[in-house]
Amino acid sequence: MIVTTKQLFQHAYGRYAVGAYNINNLEQTVGLFRGNLGKSKSNDDPVKPAASAPFILQISRGARSYSDKRFLEAMIRTADEVFPEVIFAVHLDHGTEDVCYDCIAGGFYSSVMIDASHEEFQKNIETTRRVVDRAHAKGIVVEAELGQLGGVEEDIVGSVCLTDPSQAAEFVEKSGCDSLAVAIGTSHGAFKFTGKQGLHFDVLEKLQKALPKNFPLVMHGSSSVPKEWVERINNAGGQMKSTSGVPEEQYLPAAKLGVCKVNIDTDGRLVWCAIHREAFRDDPANFDLRPPGKVFMAAYADYIVHKNTMLGSAGQLEGVRKTLKG
Ligand code: G3H
Ligand code: 13P
Ligand code: ZN
Repeated sequence: MIVTTKQLFQHAYGRYAVGAYNINNLEQTVGLFRGNLGKSKSNDDPVKPAASAPFILQISRGARSYSDKRFLEAMIRTADEVFPEVIFAVHLDHGTEDVCYDCIAGGFYSSVMIDASHEEFQKNIETTRRVVDRAHAKGIVVEAELGQLGGVEEDIVGSVCLTDPSQAAEFVEKSGCDSLAVAIGTSHGAFKFTGKQGLHFDVLEKLQKALPKNFPLVMHGSSSVPKEWVERINNAGGQMKSTSGVPEEQYLPAAKLGVCKVNIDTDGRLVWCAIHREAFRDDPANFDLRPPGKVFMAAYADYIVHKNTMLGSAGQLEGVRKTLKG
């Protein structure tokens, strides 16, 4: 069942965060749906209520053009039929104004992100407002972004680019957005932190206080870049440099301060890369795509269960269903 992110956030706020996972292809989609029902190796495994979670499936502009946006839509509709117990939102990740309008007109997405965070403050408000007006007219919700994510390497974490809480309050009021992506120390990709840096909880606390009660915050760049997966990649011929991501133990404290959506893309790519490298290293005569594909779908499903456990969303699916019915 496809719902809006707003409906998911109402259940999650202050208690747990909903995982927002990017997909690009069939194997990621199957692994994602299985994982959110606590299944692993087969679509026919029993649903495990204690591991089942509401989730957000997100699609970037790159994913839409990788094959054709229509393939993604058809695949997701089919997954919804194959796994009838799921409850999820379909979200456009980092949309431009034009792509937001395309998704709004298409009627399949339940949520869009307008990313005008690179614009100056007033222009970001105006652009977001236009998208909000069109989206709300069709019952679709909007995530906006204020502040800029960076990386330790660019030396902007901890300085001017973090979201300013007083600006955030004005932005939310004037733009009418339904959730706000904030910059609190994270960055996209595999190379986030060089040392022991983590989230700026002080800024998060101020943001929560400055914004309307129960207003949902979004954290981009939230992959944890597990050492274990980076090691597996490198042991199978990869050449990733030493790196670290957002410590998973920080997800729940962030959720308690209003972070309802945690974006994870890179970790899924690491799982994909490790499994495929290992498969071809261990069976060099193989040239068939299905053996590694099967291992990947199961491994990705297991990884989603782990992630949802860390986010606190594992075990929440039936609670969400009850709230939606009530
Ligand atoms: O924030 C960006 C997401 O990780 C999507 O990445 O644009 O390469 O699909 P992508
Ligand atoms: P990661 O690169 O940390 O997975 O972040 C993904 C993201 O923010 C997608 O919008
Ligand atoms: Zn992002």
